Amino acid sequence: MCGIVGYAGNRRVVPVLLEGLRRLEYRGYDSAGIVYQENDQLTKYRCEGKLSRLEGIVGDAIVADAHTGLGHTRWATHGAPTTENAHPHTDCSGRLVVVHNGIIENYHSLREELKDKGHQFTSETDTEVLAHLIEENLVDDLVAAVKKSLDRVEGSYALGVMSVDFPGQLIAARNQSPLVLGVENDGGTFMASDIPALLPYTKNVIFLEDEELALLEHGSYRVISLRSGEQLDKTITEIDWNAAMAEKAGYKHFMLKEIFEQPQAITNTVSGRINIETGEVVLPEINLTEKQFQNIDRIFLVACGTSWHAALVAKYWIEKYARIPVEVDIASEFRYRSLLVDERVLTVAISQSGETADTLAGIRRARKLGSRVITICNVVGSTMTREADGTLYTHAGPEIGVASTKAFISQLAALFLFTLYLSQVRDTMSSEQRRKLGQDLIDIARTVEQELPRIREQISEMIETFYDCRDFLFVGRGVNFPIALEGALKLKEISYIHAEGYAAGELKHGPIALIDKEMPIFAVTPKDSVYQKTISNVEEIKARQGRLILLGTEGDTHLNNITSDVIFMPKVHEDMNPILYTIPAQLLSYEIATRRGCDVDQPRNLAKSVTVE
Ligand code: M6R
Repeated sequence: MCGIVGYAGNRRVVPVLLEGLRRLEYRGYDSAGIVYQENDQLTKYRCEGKLSRLEGIVGDAIVADAHTGLGHTRWATHGAPTTENAHPHTDCSGRLVVVHNGIIENYHSLREELKDKGHQFTSETDTEVLAHLIEENLVDDLVAAVKKSLDRVEGSYALGVMSVDFPGQLIAARNQSPLVLGVENDGGTFMASDIPALLPYTKNVIFLEDEELALLEHGSYRVISLRSGEQLDKTITEIDWNAAMAEKAGYKHFMLKEIFEQPQAITNTVSGRINIETGEVVLPEINLTEKQFQNIDRIFLVACGTSWHAALVAKYWIEKYARIPVEVDIASEFRYRSLLVDERVLTVAISQSGETADTLAGIRRARKLGSRVITICNVVGSTMTREADGTLYTHAGPEIGVASTKAFISQLAALFLFTLYLSQVRDTMSSEQRRKLGQDLIDIARTVEQELPRIREQISEMIETFYDCRDFLFVGRGVNFPIALEGALKLKEISYIHAEGYAAGELKHGPIALIDKEMPIFAVTPKDSVYQKTISNVEEIKARQGRLILLGTEGDTHLNNITSDVIFMPKVHEDMNPILYTIPAQLLSYEIATRRGCDVDQPRNLAKSVTVE
């Protein structure tokens, strides 16, 4: 939530800030602002609404001869999305500015204290207290003033601070909200909430940890511990993403591009990790010994949103093939409920961003209780990957669309690999069976690639009769039940149509009352081991005149007797169906949302990375 960018170097700063914000806009887009130092003064632009509005307001200042500045794109927590509440926030003197992502939990008492000392507040945000607190503590050293101020702060922050009295300097600080630094060859230094903002300039990044502060200048950076004040020796990591990966590449939306990137995402995630001659799965980054895996008697899969749906699919796979009981938890529940977790439990956190606050809190709690923790994650160097015992990276590349698509598919691929790996270390499957299943996983990438254009075309014709409906149901059984949940979530978040996903057999316990001739129902009905059962549920829907869209296996002519809206999919191994059948669910949502004129990449009220509770 919220995107921060900062730069100190030789480049003109305004275009760097705007480009950085453009690449971070998926983190929040209800207001935006920039500030830069020039001629002993700070110039600030802020406005309500999207970045494009700010760009219009900045106008000619784009060529300002300024080389140090900060930018922010906001997802509101405290205070409505207005211009007054947009960042950067300024102290009373107007000589010091702050941009912030996170929540200052004790802001109310700090604000009252600072008001009593005469500070004048101009916004309703929690962030503004930081500007006044630093002003209050500032004598002649900006680093010391920020450090002293942060000692008083409770809550989470990724912070950028700049003062006209310290020309060319930027301060970055982090606690429980992500912040990376970038270092350019010519000495330019950057801070950003996420890597895509840095990609046009550098691939060399430094991940700030909690309670760390950095002083950035052109040609140098210094990181200190906020706890001890000691200078820290930080490692520079080279990122293997490039700037083009975070562009639309001719597609109308990031979401569509990312849907079409899914075959590559599967291949990248699987390649080199399974030996197709022997069936051996190799996952060295997981960092647990075979013995440790053998000692596990339960697995908790912990995640939020779409990543939680991937976890639900994995439960079916792991219990079937690796024979270990699996519990799947929504992270915001897991972190507070009474947990039966100990050292015989393995906790697996699944997260595209690796920064989701609830999932992060979940793994911290699991570790405290003695559990080993693995994360399945897409973003290299993210907080979860640094806190977990081991990581299984998905290699989906940067995902910019707020609605998760390729990250989900690559999570499924990684989780299937993980299942095969568990079956290997726990000896629950022959290597021949593993080899065959590994081949099925590899092959599914090609099948998805071949089918994508056809599915899109069929769906774009089909939605003309569905795009303006008020509600939608999605149903599936077994391993495809989570795909019904995922289809419903995708539709809700980008088209604002009310949608629910159900286990097909659950309909008759209540939701069937909703069905009438107005209600569209998207039913996942492949020819799998529960096919007959699912078809019975579909017949129950038909008997109540529901408007069925069936997703079934090529050659299953029976489906044409039920409805004229059938999307046929090639026959694949039934455990690959969740990967394959997700594609039409994603495209259905995408086509309906664009038909309704919705902003699919930046749906209302949402942000890509949910770093607050
Ligand atoms: O980065 P994460 O995978 O931890 O994010 C979890 C959810 O916030 C995310 O999947 C969200 O539900 C998406 N908007 C779904 O499309």
